[in-house]
Amino acid sequence: SFELSLRPQTLRQYIGQDKVKENLAVFIEAAKMRKETLDHVLLYGPPGLGKTTLAAIIANEMGVNIRTTAGPAIERPGDLAAILTALEPGDVLFIDEIHRLPRSIEEVLYPAMEDFCLDIVIGKGPGARSVRLDLPPFTLVGATTRAGSLSAPLRDRFGVMSRLEYYNESQLKEIVVRTSDILHTEIDELAAIEIARRSRGTPRIANRLLRRVRDYAQVRGDGIVYLDLASEALEMLQVDRLGLDHIDHKLLRGIIEKYRGGPVGLETISATIGEESHTIEDVYEPYLLQIGFLQRTPRGRVATSLVYEHFKMEVPSD
Ligand code: ADE
Repeated sequence: SFELSLRPQTLRQYIGQDKVKENLAVFIEAAKMRKETLDHVLLYGPPGLGKTTLAAIIANEMGVNIRTTAGPAIERPGDLAAILTALEPGDVLFIDEIHRLPRSIEEVLYPAMEDFCLDIVIGKGPGARSVRLDLPPFTLVGATTRAGSLSAPLRDRFGVMSRLEYYNESQLKEIVVRTSDILHTEIDELAAIEIARRSRGTPRIANRLLRRVRDYAQVRGDGIVYLDLASEALEMLQVDRLGLDHIDHKLLRGIIEKYRGGPVGLETISATIGEESHTIEDVYEPYLLQIGFLQRTPRGRVATSLVYEHFKMEVPSD
């Protein structure tokens, strides 16, 4: 599809995550040389950094098909059995949000990952019996925002664990330029840098902002994305100079104005600003922690002096 064509198809096309790419390139080449299936891979890190893209690239580089599902979509052992028995030898099974897989399913997954077999219980009560199914060898690629939420036995069954990091400005700029090219949009270098700077280290955000700025350029300008126009559009989108959006603002201002800068517990913040605590923890907090705007203490979240400076507020003296 068009959306998919935005995504890089090979490790060579994939910008950033150099260490992850370097490692994967070796493991993929070795598996291919030995005509073996690639070991199971766990990709973890904040949302929008390219876990799904990498899973597709792994399959593409191995020359196999990818089947995609997500932790919450697999409710009963039969759901997993249906997916696993439909795989062809060597295929990649991508499970997004693997930390949300029910524990009862994890147990079915262990022998599937380790010995490529499936023990299924048929029937209930005294008449129940167990049958063992052989599976084709496959590569499980799991993705999660929280490696710490995986049970240890599941984590231990991944031969490769790769952590994705936030992208720097120059990598994001390269991605914005690459995407503009694919979208046949002319973009000024300074405009690309401005979008990169306001993308919170995240390609998904960079590409989304680019599309919106491109809309703005088309309607308010001549279609070419210049710096001034990009800045105006980003202003209109309520994305500030550091890329913080409306919800980041609500979160940070909430901590400062209602809890004197904290410490305040996650659930309290969640109730105060009306965002799910999981969304705050997985989507908003990681970047705010990374740039030093938030600190996690045993008694809750604290807004640092950087936040007061950013909002041009006076830092309380106590
Ligand atoms: N588009 C989104 N993420 C990308 C990446 N890491 N490399 C190239 N293009 C991308």
